[in-house]
Amino acid sequence: MLTSEQILAWLRCDDPAALEDLWQLADTVRHCCVGDAVHLRGLVEISNTCVRQCAYCGLRAGHTQLQRYRMSADEILDCAALATRLGYGTVVLQAGEDPLLSPADIADIVRGIKSTTPLAVTLSLGEQEDENLSLWKSAGADRYLLRFETSDTELYQTIHPPYRNRTGDRFSRLRKLRQLGYEVGSGVMAGIPGQTCQSLARDIEVFAELDLDMIGIGPFIPHPATPLGDPALVASLHARAGADQAPASELMVYKMVALTRIMCPQANLPSTTALATINKTNGRELGLQRGANVVMPNLTPVKYRAMYEIYPAKACIGESAEDCSGCLRSRIARIGRKVGQGQGGRKKQA
Ligand code: 5AD
Ligand code: FES
Repeated sequence: MLTSEQILAWLRCDDPAALEDLWQLADTVRHCCVGDAVHLRGLVEISNTCVRQCAYCGLRAGHTQLQRYRMSADEILDCAALATRLGYGTVVLQAGEDPLLSPADIADIVRGIKSTTPLAVTLSLGEQEDENLSLWKSAGADRYLLRFETSDTELYQTIHPPYRNRTGDRFSRLRKLRQLGYEVGSGVMAGIPGQTCQSLARDIEVFAELDLDMIGIGPFIPHPATPLGDPALVASLHARAGADQAPASELMVYKMVALTRIMCPQANLPSTTALATINKTNGRELGLQRGANVVMPNLTPVKYRAMYEIYPAKACIGESAEDCSGCLRSRIARIGRKVGQGQGGRKKQA
């Protein structure tokens, strides 16, 4: 385990020779604690409609130029069947906070997938009421992803306007998910304007305190149609963070992934699509070699892909599910790892 000071020193370290030691240590911990298998989680982006106004996200309600879609239950079940055919162990259903995706319909879809496939079902549907989370758990959902994005409360509130006078509290949702018996995933973006290295160091400690089962970390990527795509706002937030502003760089993401692996040795850590987006050549591979053990191939029908534009130039925009499967399998093989079998849930050791 590392002290707060050590975590912070690594986040501020730019010495390539020293960082080699960090990559080595993270890879060793990954090998020992979760093994060489890379688990594939098929991602289905079931609706890009959202009522929220997150300052960084291209799906925000205020982005009125974006064409919205919502997949039908049959389309979603077809994607789950495809996940099984492609040999994935998990399907992840993700969407914006879309009130027209009815909780009862989601529950039916979860039941449908659980009764016709061997898949684990992960939901990623934003901040939801207790009763919905409970309904979906009873329907058979196994896991839930909800990134807390940053543990800096003031920054969190700046970039997450309240909805209907209710301020978001993702930590209360994470606690509820745990109580209900979900495997719980969270995570952050690295390099949000106004985010310091100090606060990223704190994020890693929070991951450990919450004993998360899954932790996703990607770079912040500015979307021009959002407030955080506005250079004037970015400049003022950077000024607030001062010299300790964290860069939204590939390197910062690798450091976060490696340190998270060391601090949360048994957690499932994806090498994220956002990381692959800023280094399309080998970002995913480097993530997997510096602590990660999961990848999330996209299963969304190609006709919807470009509309799920959380950030611009997302990786795999035009690739079919089969293409992504083949692409990831060969990337995994090239770095000497193997594809995980089965659901690949979190292993808990005494
Ligand atoms: N850049 C990078 N990641 C983003 N996300 C949302 N918007 C952006 C962006 N502009 C991430 C958030 C969210 C996840 C689904 O996508 O962390 O939780
Ligand atoms: Fe989609 Fe490589 S993972 S094309």
